[in-house]
Amino acid sequence: MLNLCCLFGGESTEYDVSLHSVTSVIENADPEQYNLISVGITRDGKWYLYDGDTAAIATDEWWKDAAHIHSAMISPSKGDHCLLVLDEAGYRKIPLDVVWPVMHGAHCEDGTLQGLLELSGIPFVGPDCRSSAICMDKFTTKAVLNNFKIPQAKVEFVTRRELAEEFENVLARVATLGYPVFLKPSSTGSSIGVSKVRTPDALRTAIENAAQFDDVVLVEEFIDGREIEVAVMGNESPVASVCGEIDPGSDFYDYETKYHNDTASYYIPARLPEDAAAAIRKTACEIYRRLGCSGLSRVDFFYTADGRYIFNEINTLPGFTSISMYPKLFMAGGMTYAEVINSLVQLALAK
Ligand SMILES: Nc1ncnc2c1ncn2[C@@H]1O[C@H](COP(=O)(O)OP(=O)(O)O)[C@@H](O)[C@H]1O
Ligand SMILES: [Mg+2]
Repeated sequence: MLNLCCLFGGESTEYDVSLHSVTSVIENADPEQYNLISVGITRDGKWYLYDGDTAAIATDEWWKDAAHIHSAMISPSKGDHCLLVLDEAGYRKIPLDVVWPVMHGAHCEDGTLQGLLELSGIPFVGPDCRSSAICMDKFTTKAVLNNFKIPQAKVEFVTRRELAEEFENVLARVATLGYPVFLKPSSTGSSIGVSKVRTPDALRTAIENAAQFDDVVLVEEFIDGREIEVAVMGNESPVASVCGEIDPGSDFYDYETKYHNDTASYYIPARLPEDAAAAIRKTACEIYRRLGCSGLSRVDFFYTADGRYIFNEINTLPGFTSISMYPKLFMAGGMTYAEVINSLVQLALAK
């Protein structure tokens, strides 16, 4: 029996997604193999051991249940391998074998939490601190992958200072990409701050909006292509799932389309020629290795009508509900959701 600590919530814009992801993990993890220890992190960053009803997680009521939340923290002290649970009498220790941050976005997926877990020495699911930090930051990811000739959209990086002090120069640089362009903050997810800009006169306001979230804004050429996602799993020898395809059924795959509307259609496997699917899966594994990933990541591409595939972004802790692309892509290959969980835990222990 392994003491598996699932961290959920977190101080990020993807807090709600995490509540759903962790509910699926709790409901599907094999009770014969795992003793689950759930630790919720509130929107303002407070950590609690939660031993109440699982149903109250998805409804975001877990933290209101005073009888079932207990202040807790993971000890960074190497060798402790435990959760410290604080109460009036002092503290108690719960030993931990593996930690799984079932969380997404800032402070969850960007290396901060992974740094703490590395200090603790407790095996954890997903890429290490360095790789998580590189992959969360689109500017850095692109810079690394450029060295390896991975096909990517042309991009101009704009900082807040450039926006304020040399906007004419920004306008000229962006003009070389041609309109429309896509704007995105370097380090958000779930399409937060992402927009499509059709004309130069709309550029300044749109960059200002994206720059609320990050000092660096990516301005990318528009890629007219289908959206392809590949789930990758492994440490030294990663394997890729079948390709999945998303047709947002809207202007682009924005926050509303991802979580609130039901315009999107999903195709597993993706509607791709066999050789293109094979090439994309191979490239997904190469990207995973080049970025130093381990455990899991989802690698996203565009596929154009003339048969080119272009890397878009990588997510080191992708959505993990039972209807999320990551588990579904491996389930399409014959695994059950519970087997995906087992594999990821085993990969954490094997690192
Ligand atoms: N260069 C681009 N060309 C066309 N569509 C894009 C481009 N960049 C982003 N998009 C659209 O915006 C969505 C969100 O952008 P993405 O880079 O995946 O950021 P996030 O990390 O927020 O998911 C994509 O799924 C796609 O629909
Ligand atoms: Mg995306």
